[in-house]
Amino acid sequence: MIICRILLILIVSFTCLAYADDNKNPYAIASAHKLATQAGEQILQTGGNAFDAAVAMSAALAVVEPYGSGLGGGGFWLLHDSSTNADVVIDGREVAPLDATHDMYLDEEGRLTGQSINGPLAAGIPGVVAALEHITKHYGRLTLADNLQPAIKYAKEGFTPGDHYIKLASLRQQALLASPAASDIFLDKGEVPPHEFVVRQTDLANTLEKIAQQGAKGFYYGDVAEKMVQGVQAAGGIWRLEDLASYSIEKRTPIKTDYHGIEIIMPPPPTSGGVVISQILAMLEQSPVLDLNDAESIHKVVEAMRRAYQDRAIYLGDPAYTDMPLSKLLNKQYAQDKFASFNQAKASTSESLAKSLTSKGEDTTHFSVLDSEGNYVAATLSINYPFGSGFVAPGTGILLNDEMDDFSMSGGVANIWGLVGSDANAIEPGKRMLSSMTPLFARDEQRTLIVGTPGGSRIISMLALALINYQQGANVNEIVSQRRFHHQYLPDEIQFEINALTEKEKTTLANKGHPLKEMSRTYGNMHAIIWHPKNNKVEAASDLRGEGLAVIQ
Ligand code: DON
Repeated sequence: MIICRILLILIVSFTCLAYADDNKNPYAIASAHKLATQAGEQILQTGGNAFDAAVAMSAALAVVEPYGSGLGGGGFWLLHDSSTNADVVIDGREVAPLDATHDMYLDEEGRLTGQSINGPLAAGIPGVVAALEHITKHYGRLTLADNLQPAIKYAKEGFTPGDHYIKLASLRQQALLASPAASDIFLDKGEVPPHEFVVRQTDLANTLEKIAQQGAKGFYYGDVAEKMVQGVQAAGGIWRLEDLASYSIEKRTPIKTDYHGIEIIMPPPPTSGGVVISQILAMLEQSPVLDLNDAESIHKVVEAMRRAYQDRAIYLGDPAYTDMPLSKLLNKQYAQDKFASFNQAKASTSESLAKSLTSKGEDTTHFSVLDSEGNYVAATLSINYPFGSGFVAPGTGILLNDEMDDFSMSGGVANIWGLVGSDANAIEPGKRMLSSMTPLFARDEQRTLIVGTPGGSRIISMLALALINYQQGANVNEIVSQRRFHHQYLPDEIQFEINALTEKEKTTLANKGHPLKEMSRTYGNMHAIIWHPKNNKVEAASDLRGEGLAVIQ
């Protein structure tokens, strides 16, 4: 274990496999940033449980991965409480402001104006702070002030940007420049900062301290709330104080399905992964053997993805606003009937699938943590596009999300992830926008998997591939490093990571009629823990595509 740790420090992202020593139960953490992993470990070592560590890591990621998540964003936390053996979802998804309207992002010709991505009009009302307070209060052992300490320290003392930060700041430089408060913090005199630059966030440290002292009230009411609303309105946004005061998290019952005898636990709408993954697995469970290194199996898997993502586009949205036929969608027979049109020789076309949409519709982060008492958390958090809307309300340090783009736009206009949707996910005041974020557990008597990843619409397909692998006995490293391919119904094409398919596979798939789209890069940043409770063994891995760190004890 010690060697494993030294390697971890040297290599940053690495896989660990260890047996706990005789009288100690193991813990494990895998997250997208080493400072967040260290924050989680510090909390576990000073008497906190996995839920405290989850709060500390969410807050730390908000500081050190400003391109991925933040207090100005939202997320889903999937918790397993070993004392009650219960699984629960804390839904801290953003909601549309009360003054939001159906077509607010379309110009007169029905084209997107760009305001669902850049600037404060793109921002939903954030849920992270309410979720962190709730998790600490109802599941943690420490105080919110304890759990926020590492994040406050990182905000005050600063951190140096990694390659990922630099790449994404360059992608979003224009959006950041449009917000003086954002460019002051995240750029170096307007330029993309070099590696040795120190990103110090004094305003954010002050906001975090207010939250530490006053709880979520320190964010949703008073000085911070007033500054956020003033800043948003002065720059063309529509937030009101009432929006912040009326925000509340939702506690939800997870979706549970099973795949070849493994129980899979995932969040329900307003995120879509639970429903879509259940359908994909139900369609594929009929196949005795799937070999992800074989083009015939890849064809079958993408055809299942195509059909399941179609239902995402047609049916899914915020349950408080949309009636969804969830029991039908989660019925294995329904999925299998839908797969009856599958043809092993030939690609289907998305257009030919029965139903049509009713007309009018990196960067996110993830961590997994297991404590020595058998509590565990998987959490996926987001401000949507890298650096969110690029807008910081002056004096707050809060970088706002651009999650409003996850609503479906009128006329079948695709969003930044290429997703289309229906009225089920249309913009309405106070409504949660449909997400793909899917923190996930998979367990049977032998093993428990705690996993998730960012990646927009591809989150779901990445996790479906992870589960196919896991069921076949893959270890944690094989799961996070699996090559990735994807189909999301529309656009009607197989997307895959650069170099992920061989020439032979490409030829086989093209001959079946699949349009192929090779991405210019890899995608996703998966963090996984596998716990083997019977022999006290634990494995953890952070995706080598990212800059994360996995630790075990
Ligand atoms: O909630 C969603 O589905 C998106 N806002 C997630 C965005 C994301 O994963 C970005 N990561 N690359």
